[in-house]
Amino acid sequence: MSINVLFVCLGNICRSPSAEAVFRAKVAAAGLQRQIIIDSAGTSDWHIGKAPDPRSCQAALKRGYDLSSLRGRQVQSEDFRRFNYILAMDNANLSHLQAMAPADYSGTLELMLNFPVRQVLLEVPDPYFDAEQGFEQVLDLIETASDALLAHLQARLSQAN
Ligand code: 4NP
Repeated sequence: MSINVLFVCLGNICRSPSAEAVFRAKVAAAGLQRQIIIDSAGTSDWHIGKAPDPRSCQAALKRGYDLSSLRGRQVQSEDFRRFNYILAMDNANLSHLQAMAPADYSGTLELMLNFPVRQVLLEVPDPYFDAEQGFEQVLDLIETASDALLAHLQARLSQAN
């Protein structure tokens, strides 16, 4: 059994690639990289094929996460067939995804900061027009939520075995 997780933001160059890299590192540390497949995408088409924002790359690298191989892509309707967890960074992304989702989508479509545990902040603030501190906050929020998500998926995988 494999679990497929997609992180979604607006541009796919700041928040969702950061979530992808952070969660990938935690999944690898838990030895679950074959069972948990991870990707990210943006609701917009603004940065298709582009590398993540250098400010995201730099902040992530300081914490040991390498974003350099990631490239922007836009969410597609096929993603609802491929991914059983689609986690949005903010309410605008979530509304966009809800409007796109097929009526029979049976996966989990939620805010990353509301699944599986409701965090203090529900949205990962868009750092694009922010100073460096915004990029640190993105990573703080994503790291905490990733721990909760991994624990949830580990429990699910152990039930399946
Ligand atoms: P992201 O951040 O959604 O976290 O990737 C943004 C990146 C680019 C833009 C906005 C947000 N933009 O306006 O181009």
